[in-house]
Amino acid sequence: MKILGIETSCDETGVAIYDDNVGLIINKLHTQEKLHKKYGGVVPELASRNHINKLIYLIKSALQETKISKKEIKAIAYTAGPGLVGSLLVGATIAHSLSFSWKIPVLPINHLEGHLMAPMLENEKIQYPIIALLVSGGHTQLIKMNKFSKYDLIGESIDDAAGEAFDKIATLLGLGYPGGPIISEKAKNGKTGKFIFPRPMLNQSNLNFSFSGLKTSVKKIILKNKNNMSDQKISDISLAFEESIIDVLIYKSKKALIKTGIKNIIITGGVSANNKLRLKMEKEIKKIKGKVFYPKLEFCKDNGAMIALTGMIRIKKKKKIKEKFIVKSNWKLKDLN
Ligand code: KG4
Ligand code: ZN
Repeated sequence: MKILGIETSCDETGVAIYDDNVGLIINKLHTQEKLHKKYGGVVPELASRNHINKLIYLIKSALQETKISKKEIKAIAYTAGPGLVGSLLVGATIAHSLSFSWKIPVLPINHLEGHLMAPMLENEKIQYPIIALLVSGGHTQLIKMNKFSKYDLIGESIDDAAGEAFDKIATLLGLGYPGGPIISEKAKNGKTGKFIFPRPMLNQSNLNFSFSGLKTSVKKIILKNKNNMSDQKISDISLAFEESIIDVLIYKSKKALIKTGIKNIIITGGVSANNKLRLKMEKEIKKIKGKVFYPKLEFCKDNGAMIALTGMIRIKKKKKIKEKFIVKSNWKLKDLN
């Protein structure tokens, strides 16, 4: 059985076809990074207009390239939230229209649950309960996944998301958008110890994060050095900032495992593409005899494959969302319980 997945929650237009026997058949992605670069962040109106231009074309080409006829598609899964409401509405409208015309069911999918399922695109058998660190441009959350669709939020950022902090610092450094990949590239040439930034919230016993104070300290240093900012200094600041964020993410993840007595952790979302975070997390979690699971690099950031897979799991487990709605821009994981 084949399912079509549609993702349009932010600045990536994603389309995928997933088969319950074969696995992922095709994954098409159009990224709007260039469109938003000069603004230093996503401009919602531009994002939704661009989804309109690209989505139907991507669906058509996914069918053409795989020579799969529309009759073979038995369901459509689309991201219904959380996300930018205009962008979500584009995906929702096209998903519902196709479902009406092809006479097949349509499934609203929670984008965050999509990120949580992304490691399973590799056929990884993940045992519940497991902890997940979801780190993206919009979220930094520690989640206890009790079983499929039963999630407890055990910690989250009280201000900026980790990815958002990367993006804001990159803008201040004049590096453009999205900030994560550029900062980690610059950090490769950085010298350790040239700058040291705070590791916020480490002395608190809860599992929450805060990155706005860190952002302010980095901003102060950038402003202080604005008249003599060399390439080397940009790299040194990038490295110190990246190390600080990574240390906090790892410290709180470890704490979540120790507190809950759970051994394993999933890291997912755009920031989980960060290589240093992956390596260091693996090393640290090994020390407490745990294992780290993450999606393949291409499935860390937003994509249609994780939405198609989540739709397929919901069909198989007979757990379709019963509530009637088209999009829900602030849809929380706990609403799925
Ligand atoms: O999951 P995602 O594609 O979109 C959201 O749902 O938010 O995540 C995008 C975020 C951006 O903030 C971007 O800067 C960050 O992920 N990101 C990274 C890296 N690659 C992407 N952050 C740190 N290191 C990276 N290598
Ligand atoms: Zn995302």
